[in-house]
Amino acid sequence: MHIRDATPADFPAILALNHTFVAVLSSLDEARLAHLHAQAAQHRVIERNGEVLAFLLTLREAADYDSPNYRWFAARYPRFLYVDRIVVSASAQGLGAGRQLYRDAYQYALDHALPVLVCEYDIAPPNPASARFHTGLGFREVGAQTLGAGKQVSLQALEIAADTPLSRP
Ligand SMILES: CC(C)(COP(=O)(O)OP(=O)(O)OC[C@H]1O[C@@H](n2cnc3c(N)ncnc32)[C@H](O)[C@@H]1OP(=O)(O)O)[C@@H](O)C(=O)NCCC(=O)NCCS
Repeated sequence: MHIRDATPADFPAILALNHTFVAVLSSLDEARLAHLHAQAAQHRVIERNGEVLAFLLTLREAADYDSPNYRWFAARYPRFLYVDRIVVSASAQGLGAGRQLYRDAYQYALDHALPVLVCEYDIAPPNPASARFHTGLGFREVGAQTLGAGKQVSLQALEIAADTPLSRP
């Protein structure tokens, strides 16, 4: 597996991955993806034999983004790295791709002296794989909010200075 920057040529594969897991993400079309790509601090993919198996998109503070979860963090943290979305294809889950993408985000935050990595995951209806994944990496809940259609999310943060699995080699 090989990690690299995403390019517009990857958009069809990224949109397909997002579509597969849209129940636990927010929806994405090509125009919105292009907008996020332009705003992104990092937009990374993992590929194997030329096939995109996973992607991660992060944003820093001051991005032009209307997501209520991004806005929640922007209202409370002056500097942060926000994981807008991470998806690993069903066939590649459990092989460490998610952890590799988060290591990459963690390194970005470290390199840019950003004090915190933040994200959210669904708690109603729940996303237990994501909860276990984030808890295992050292994230902790800093808030919760209800979105439209009764969806509830846990807002999560990982302090870069803390001793966590991502801070260890
Ligand atoms: C959540 C997700 C990103 C995890 O990526 P992954 O590549 O499968 O995870 P990794 O192989 O790097 O696993 C890292 C740790 O996460 C935990 N974990 C990952 N998937 C899990 C699952 N299905 N059930 C329970 N724990 C899980 C494990 O603790 C694992 O540690 P271990 O290897 O020591 O057991 C991936 O399952 C995914 O893309 N899911 C669909 C989309 C999604 O939910 N995105 C997140 C939205 S908030």
